[in-house]
Amino acid sequence: MRLLIKNIRTLAGIVPADTLMLRGGEMNNSAGQIDDAWLLAEDGVIVGFGPMATLPEVEADEVVDADGRVVFPAFCDSHSHIVYAGSREGEFRDKIAGMTYQEVAARGGGILNSADRLHEASEEELYEAALPRAWRMIRSGAATLEINSGYGLTTEDELKMLRVVRRLQENLPATVKATFLGAHAVGRAFAGRQSDYVDHVCRDMIPAVAEQGVAEFVDVFCDEGFFTPEQTAQILECGGRYGLRAKIHANELASSGGVQVGIRYGALSVDHLEEANEQDVRDLAASATIPTVLPGASFFSNLPFAPARRMIEAGLPVAIASDCNPGSSPSGNMTFLWSLACIKMRLTPEEALSALTINGAAALGLSGDRGAISVGRRADVVISKPVPSLAYIPYSFGEDLVESVIIGGTKV
Ligand code: NIG
Ligand code: FE
Repeated sequence: MRLLIKNIRTLAGIVPADTLMLRGGEMNNSAGQIDDAWLLAEDGVIVGFGPMATLPEVEADEVVDADGRVVFPAFCDSHSHIVYAGSREGEFRDKIAGMTYQEVAARGGGILNSADRLHEASEEELYEAALPRAWRMIRSGAATLEINSGYGLTTEDELKMLRVVRRLQENLPATVKATFLGAHAVGRAFAGRQSDYVDHVCRDMIPAVAEQGVAEFVDVFCDEGFFTPEQTAQILECGGRYGLRAKIHANELASSGGVQVGIRYGALSVDHLEEANEQDVRDLAASATIPTVLPGASFFSNLPFAPARRMIEAGLPVAIASDCNPGSSPSGNMTFLWSLACIKMRLTPEEALSALTINGAAALGLSGDRGAISVGRRADVVISKPVPSLAYIPYSFGEDLVESVIIGGTKV
């Protein structure tokens, strides 16, 4: 099966085939665009691209005339929580009235509210609720998604969530990666016994998750009022013994040692970072851990935006993800994140695109295979609606400018 896209106004996100992520100044990827371009995919893989003047004679099964449209790599959303039951707009009202995220949680709302509802929901109901959320993300340009557990907080309910993620993996055209986040909050049965809960996560949940092979990564909400760096270390160490790679929630509410414990345990990424300070940035710069920032959570929860500009200046490979979840970021709209990154974090449109694509892939251990335009990578691309330029997409925030999403060389 051959797909040819021709007359592309701008083909963006091109990197050399052996580039696994873009760091610091490379994120602007100024060499990574061709105006008036073509792209050819064969059996799901990019096999060629270039300026229209170089278009070879090819027989294609499908030819798309992208006149006036831009084409860029599909987004890799490396952090979401889209398997959940119900919604939390009651807490939205409370937050508008002035309550903080921590105050809502302390009252038994927040994550525990979602855990109560998830407990009541059947696997089928959870799947039926998550499927359209995943499709909305795909329609907004994502071809790769990560989904956390963490609204179960008992072994049975965590496994129930992860089985739903597996069904999504089997039924969506997008690649789906699963993360076990048993330490998202202390389950109700362990109220007031946080260290017993951590022991339970290590002794019972992680072995069960590993035995059933339903997650690839282990996560902990390492933050003020949630889990300490010491508890996080205990869980990451245990997860590592069971072959689960660390990806953690850190420094959303305070700079409380999450970055350092993530680095110490070889985390693929540390995510959130709204409160990351200069020392955190320096420690990340001396590590192989990817900083993933979540501008949707800052926007919706009225938190500071993570210092992504500073991180880029420090040479870091910043990734951006949606964090789509019912409490702190109930949207998985990828082009809105692109706008937020530009407007609120002062990233250029090209830097933000790198963060949402190749660096998101790297934050899932998938670099080399997707997230960019190069020969040999998967043909996961977005074709925009007619636009004057690439920058118009984040500029015209809130407008749906994705015309089609191609995953593995096929329009979905
Ligand atoms: O990434 N911060 C921790 N966990 C989620 C929010 C969970 C919730 O409030 O339901 C997040 O923002
Ligand atoms: Fe999250």
